[in-house]
Amino acid sequence: MSAPESASPSSDRFLSRRRFLETSAVIAGALGLADAATGEAAQQKPAGGTTPNTPVHPLDPLTPDEIVRAVEIVRKARNVDDSWRFVTVTLAEPGKKTVKTFKPGGLVPRQAFVIAIDRSHGRPYEGLVDLVKGVVDRFDPLPAGLQPSITLDEFSECEEAIKRSPDFLAALKKRGATDVQLVMVDPWSAGMYGTERPEDRGKRLSRALAWVRSEAGDNGYARPLDGVVAVVDLNTMQVVRVEDYGVIPLPPEAGNWHRSYQKEFCEPPRPLQIVQPDGPSFAVDGYEVAWQKWKFRIGFTPREGLVLHNITYTDAGRERPIIYRAAICEMVVPYGDPDERHYRKNAFDIGEYGIGMFANSLELGCDCLGTIRYFDARMNDSRGQPVTIKNAVCLHEDDVGLLWKHTDWRTNQSETRRSRRLAVSFVATVGNYEYGFFWYLYQDGNIQCEVKLTGIMHTTTVAPGEKPAFGTLVAPQLNAPFHEHIFAARLDMAVDGEENSIYEVNTVSLPSGPDNPYGNAFRAEHSLLAKESQAQRSVNGASARYWRIVNPNKTNRIGEPVAYRLIPGENAPPFVRPDAAVMRRAGFIAHQLWVTPYDRHERYAAGDYPNQHPTGDGLPIYTAADRSLVNTDLVVWYVFGHNHVPRLEDWPVMPVASLGFFLKPDGFFERNPALDLPPPDKV
Ligand code: NI
Repeated sequence: MSAPESASPSSDRFLSRRRFLETSAVIAGALGLADAATGEAAQQKPAGGTTPNTPVHPLDPLTPDEIVRAVEIVRKARNVDDSWRFVTVTLAEPGKKTVKTFKPGGLVPRQAFVIAIDRSHGRPYEGLVDLVKGVVDRFDPLPAGLQPSITLDEFSECEEAIKRSPDFLAALKKRGATDVQLVMVDPWSAGMYGTERPEDRGKRLSRALAWVRSEAGDNGYARPLDGVVAVVDLNTMQVVRVEDYGVIPLPPEAGNWHRSYQKEFCEPPRPLQIVQPDGPSFAVDGYEVAWQKWKFRIGFTPREGLVLHNITYTDAGRERPIIYRAAICEMVVPYGDPDERHYRKNAFDIGEYGIGMFANSLELGCDCLGTIRYFDARMNDSRGQPVTIKNAVCLHEDDVGLLWKHTDWRTNQSETRRSRRLAVSFVATVGNYEYGFFWYLYQDGNIQCEVKLTGIMHTTTVAPGEKPAFGTLVAPQLNAPFHEHIFAARLDMAVDGEENSIYEVNTVSLPSGPDNPYGNAFRAEHSLLAKESQAQRSVNGASARYWRIVNPNKTNRIGEPVAYRLIPGENAPPFVRPDAAVMRRAGFIAHQLWVTPYDRHERYAAGDYPNQHPTGDGLPIYTAADRSLVNTDLVVWYVFGHNHVPRLEDWPVMPVASLGFFLKPDGFFERNPALDLPPPDKV
């Protein structure tokens, strides 16, 4: 903290306030909200460029025109009228052969994958539309019981329906809340627990929860209308019933985070400028990105959000593949409270909602500094109209300190290289919570995935004086329940080619005896995971466990197969019991590593339609045939969980918690691939 310029406490506060305003102006400038009076320069400089409107590559996301065309073709061919809803209209990614044989400038094959609901009959469909030929290739009803993800329109329509429901208004009144305009509704997925009422079967449902603000800008999550669950049929938008589990008085305190409620600010740090006078070091061509020795393509789906395709590293003039496709393909947030009101809370924010749909427009604020290149996300609304989220994906470079260093104290030779990484990210707001998904590429061949968790915790109310058994009291009468955030990364690996095998590596100490006479011996033991059943594994800190994806057909100069290492970061096992109902739909969380031979239809860890799935799908089903994993095209599924035992410090808005994993070259290169990075004084 710098010394105050005046001894007067009031002018000290004024100074802080002035600096805060200056900093705010910098941020506002970055948001395009520059105050004409201050004219502050923005630290976040857009690198220019637009998101392409013409597909030039088979993996380019659908353009708005293609979305319109796909919907028109379906409407015409299948007599689809306005009562239908389009859940998603996305690129049907072509097979690998098509992608690999594609020549720039050639005919771009384009197929759209469409999920739609005939609301008048309550029947969902999925289909494929050939955009080149203008025909529907297939369009079939989903098997009975399956429900597509919940759409954004359903979110708002559900809230409106509940606010009109006399039963809900009565429940509101019982709790002393009178202004329905201050009510916020989160349409939680209904799940499938084997406790469903017979009359609910086959319906597309939400079990919506509500909160009430004390005024328009107030944080509603500080006041849960606990004990009220509105069950809504999302096809008819009828409130099926309002379940009332008894009145608990609303928590007494506000929990505001917005600046307009903040009475005083602390001394702000002085400006930190990231200046890139010659522009960024990356080059963007359409959706293709080249940076240092890396190349990849950006993709985006309404379900997964950001997707990275064809990640390669150019080594001695040779472009070497590492990953064919990488995305966070599923997640689940199991809550640990067994109360009748709360046991169904297990949000699958990717499979049940589509986390890409909730991407922030980073026009509204981005946490990155430097020169930024944004990409828009193109999706559809439920009427089949295109929707653009401006600046959904952020691409920029970070300085991350030391890359490598050595000083020879005898000769006084010293070399230091700073590490630069390329960050590509998006942030999604799902109701109360924010998820930031970041992928980083490093100059030494490392790839990192980091998920950042922030926003506002889910809350429930407890009676005055009550201590919650399954949560933390974060304010008077306000409980933040114990929960986990469990993510599944789907990594379609291609380590120096498609044919790969996977090994588990455990570091073990040898028993004392003739082979270990001094007790110091330890070594890394490699075990081939030859079949799917052998490749269902957990992390193990005690053996510093990691996994190696090797290409048995390519060797390095030592004669060993080239490899990449998958290194777990923070992780936690699921704490729900194996026989808990949620485990049927979230079977993927039973293991932290799964490996499958590539099948283009196996895309999601909890299957294609986890919403209300009666029996469960995904990895436990994919791996049932126990296929071989030796020297074949492998998909590695890494499951990683953050155990959230809430703290007082997580309220009212949570400082970022982050977790993820690394992929590091392991005998992939002949030596440190960043040895040739020029010294800083030579640049
Ligand atoms: Ni949490």
